[in-house]
Amino acid sequence: MKSKALINLLQDGKIHSGESLAQSLGVSRTAVWKQIRRAVDDGYEVATVRGKGYQLLTPVDLLDAGEILEGIAPEVRAGLKLTVLDEVDSTNAEVIRQWQPGSSEIPVCIADCQTAGRGRRGKAWQSPRGENLYLSIGLTFHGGFAVLDGLSLVLGVAVANALESLGAQSIGLKWPNDIFLPGGKLGGILVELQGELQEGVVQVIAGIGINVHMSEADSVDQPWTSLASAFPGQEWSRGRIAAAIINAIHDATKIFADVGFSDFRGPWQSRDIFRGKTIHARSGELEGTGEGIDETGNYLVRSADGVTPVRAGEISLRVRS
Ligand code: BTN
Repeated sequence: MKSKALINLLQDGKIHSGESLAQSLGVSRTAVWKQIRRAVDDGYEVATVRGKGYQLLTPVDLLDAGEILEGIAPEVRAGLKLTVLDEVDSTNAEVIRQWQPGSSEIPVCIADCQTAGRGRRGKAWQSPRGENLYLSIGLTFHGGFAVLDGLSLVLGVAVANALESLGAQSIGLKWPNDIFLPGGKLGGILVELQGELQEGVVQVIAGIGINVHMSEADSVDQPWTSLASAFPGQEWSRGRIAAAIINAIHDATKIFADVGFSDFRGPWQSRDIFRGKTIHARSGELEGTGEGIDETGNYLVRSADGVTPVRAGEISLRVRS
């Protein structure tokens, strides 16, 4: 986004004279005018107020690396490598590209928009500019791939906690790790295995997408909602949400690495949107009632044949319609 510096100055919604903008940006008034044109091309609504200057009419929620870092606990911030981008194919892909083998830094990438956002099961993730949060974090675990059982669910609990700490209520979780509100899907988590760095040291990329301001989307194939539409009385800032999620993931994955999944079973169950509902899995082969998760995070479906655990992976659970 070429007009970012200008938008930064205009984001308070007040009228700014061409002269003051030119001074702040260190350019001529003609150059300011050109930047205004570019901002309009970028999709911003900028009013020209005769004899006074320019006023931004579109509400903006810019991503600022400094502000995000300020919201992160100092002990977490110290080990983090944060990259904030205007545009990227996928923040998950960017973390994979940036991750230095053997580096102890935790890579985090946040982008204003994604051109090839990835969802679970090969689907695309709608990633319009400036609307939502697109965040990926690289995580390292010791003990081989087996220690990752339940990680997806742990991340869901961490994200739900972070959103609730900022004032969202009734955050539900759809197994294994979709973030839900009564109005529909609010966000999703894509966990991708990077591989085994050395014997027993495994690397994972957790990509989190949260609908923040989005009010329309053409090709989303299920009911969805956003924080701004579900909680309109609140001012939602993508930077503050990002910082809260990074803090929560750091704390949760530390507990998970130390003691495993057990501490997360209760918090996950209390948000389970399938509990007591008639659901089907394995493309309809298994049908029954949602009974929550077992001690490793498998989903339990009660049917006439008893209770069947369903493993996270390819299988999706759906409420029977
Ligand atoms: C899902 O399908 O529910 C998971 C969606 C995950 C989307 C996020 S947005 C940030 C990160 N980068 C991606 O390409 N995907 C994840």
